[in-house]
Amino acid sequence: MFNVAIIGASGYTGGELLRMLLNHPEVEITDITSRQYDGTPAHKLHSHIRDSGLVFKNKSPGDLDADVVFTATPHGASMKIVPEILETGAKVVDLSGDYRYRDTAVYEKWYGMEHTDKENKGAFGLPELYRDEIKKADLVANPGCFPTGAILSSYPLVKNNLVSRIIIDSKTGVSGAGINPSATTHYPNIADNVNPYKISSHRHMSEIQQELHGFEGVKVSFTPHLVPVIRGIQTTSHSLLNDENIDITPDEIRKLYEKEYGDEYFIKLMDEGEIPHLSSVRGSNFVHIGGFEIDETGRLVMLSCIDNLVKGASGQAIQNMNIILGIDETLGLTHFGLHP
Ligand SMILES: NC(=O)c1ccc[n+]([C@@H]2O[C@H](COP(=O)([O-])OP(=O)(O)OC[C@H]3O[C@@H](n4cnc5c(N)ncnc54)[C@H](OP(=O)(O)O)[C@@H]3O)[C@@H](O)[C@H]2O)c1
Repeated sequence: MFNVAIIGASGYTGGELLRMLLNHPEVEITDITSRQYDGTPAHKLHSHIRDSGLVFKNKSPGDLDADVVFTATPHGASMKIVPEILETGAKVVDLSGDYRYRDTAVYEKWYGMEHTDKENKGAFGLPELYRDEIKKADLVANPGCFPTGAILSSYPLVKNNLVSRIIIDSKTGVSGAGINPSATTHYPNIADNVNPYKISSHRHMSEIQQELHGFEGVKVSFTPHLVPVIRGIQTTSHSLLNDENIDITPDEIRKLYEKEYGDEYFIKLMDEGEIPHLSSVRGSNFVHIGGFEIDETGRLVMLSCIDNLVKGASGQAIQNMNIILGIDETLGLTHFGLHP
């Protein structure tokens, strides 16, 4: 058995880590921390998690008894905590944006704050692309929720140099904003509505660009929309085919995806004409990818669905934990989504 601890366990991704780790056959949760709820049983906040015996403690990061620590904390907070944990010899999976950037100057530009831990570098925790780096890492930077769905649904296109321009349009559920209520997440502002936000400047665009721009000549744009669902991210990517690839067929594109992802347990490619749905992945670590259609103008449409709290956060964090511990990558994560 491996010991694991969660910092920020009172939040949404912390609660989701608890839900899945309590059913994981190879780990024991030794510590869950919260500054606000010191001494409070876990189920008082996460009412679905009963009888775990776990109690929030306001423990210092350096005092945790764990082989792996999840930092389910906001950006800016993680970089203050992670160095102290690494000094204890524990490995870290960080769920914030703090360690996702190869160049901290890009982080500082998009997050508008100084990066105070330039020494520790994280492996980018998208296992389907970076499994070998993650295996060797002491620190894994779990990707953002939007970038997970967006990168996975476009990666084979840029890797094979098929497209010059990708315009990504995502719809997200409200749990993406975390546990603290705000005017943005207030029910009358959300319900029966669609709210585009940060339409040309969302910080996740820079993370998607980092991963997809690495392939020369591809420009990526991104616009998110808040929709009245609790969980899930539906992404539609509009890609403009290169002139030299304008005659490629949907079937040829599908074959590239099958080659790239055929062995990936958590990526499911939809059949021809089948549309991915949020309700099929809700609560699960699966990514459903579909689309594969090209219109008369040479626009290729790809679609993906994930659960922002699972493959977009805590499930992927457990997948990364499994990889760094050298155990089966799918342990604790094989459950299907909650349909309908
Ligand atoms: N929600 C999503 O769908 C999602 C998806 C991907 C990534 N993420 C990322 O995952 C991280 C956690 O997100 P979340 O949605 O779980 O947020 P959340 O619901 O707001 O929870 C974050 C928790 O972190 C703790 N915290 C806040 N500031 C802290 C500090 N300075 N030091 C220690 N603990 C602190 C708080 O607990 P106490 O006040 O009780 O200590 C809080 O409950 C964020 O970086 C977020 O961007 C979230």
